[in-house]
Amino acid sequence: MPVTRIATPDDASAITDLVRTHRAALAPWEPVRDDEWFTLDSQRSILEASLQAYAQGTTVPLVILDGTEVIGRLNLNGITRGALQSAALGYWVSPAHQGRGFATRAVADAVALAFGELDLHRLQAETLLHNTASQQVLQRNGFRAYGVAPGVSEDRRQVAGPRVVPPDRAARQLRFDPRPG
Ligand SMILES: CC(C)(COP(=O)(O)OP(=O)(O)OC[C@H]1O[C@@H](n2cnc3c(N)ncnc32)[C@H](O)[C@@H]1OP(=O)(O)O)[C@@H](O)C(=O)NCCC(=O)NCCS
Repeated sequence: MPVTRIATPDDASAITDLVRTHRAALAPWEPVRDDEWFTLDSQRSILEASLQAYAQGTTVPLVILDGTEVIGRLNLNGITRGALQSAALGYWVSPAHQGRGFATRAVADAVALAFGELDLHRLQAETLLHNTASQQVLQRNGFRAYGVAPGVSEDRRQVAGPRVVPPDRAARQLRFDPRPG
């Protein structure tokens, strides 16, 4: 039974409630967000942009569901065709619903979609080294670690633009790759 479906702009309200309510709990795992990001307008715009990218075949924006209730998000990002046939996974689950297997099942949905309908050959995910919950989710879905990226900044503000990062701020991300079968 799938726990995901394609997001719609109507999901913006539920998502805004979740990201506002759980802003502090999700912050350590997320890029730094300004206040604007937590507004309904901003979340609706993000969904609309994702749906345009979906129409162009470069992203699949999903919501994670408990029944009909939206409890998280999962994206297949950067879908690349040709020799690579690849995409990257990103996801979060509301802290009120964590530890109940929702991310594990949502990633299973995404893997089935990616290797089935989308005909991809490769799915990638990156986690912070200490994100054991996310690593657990990936490993349970057949991903295996294949490397640690050197010199990736732990300073999440890097997403706002290129920054020179002092070595003591350098962090690493585990990289995972799907195990066939
Ligand atoms: C990572 C995340 C998506 C997991 O969602 P979830 O629905 O709780 O995941 P699941 O319940 O399917 O599985 C989580 C597993 O990790 C385990 N886990 C949770 N916290 C853990 C910790 N600190 N150390 C070790 N294991 C942990 C859980 O016990 C569970 O395993 P179990 O079922 O064997 O008990 C969720 O914690 C989250 O949204 N975190 C913030 C955003 C994030 O990190 N996104 C991923 C970025 S790579």
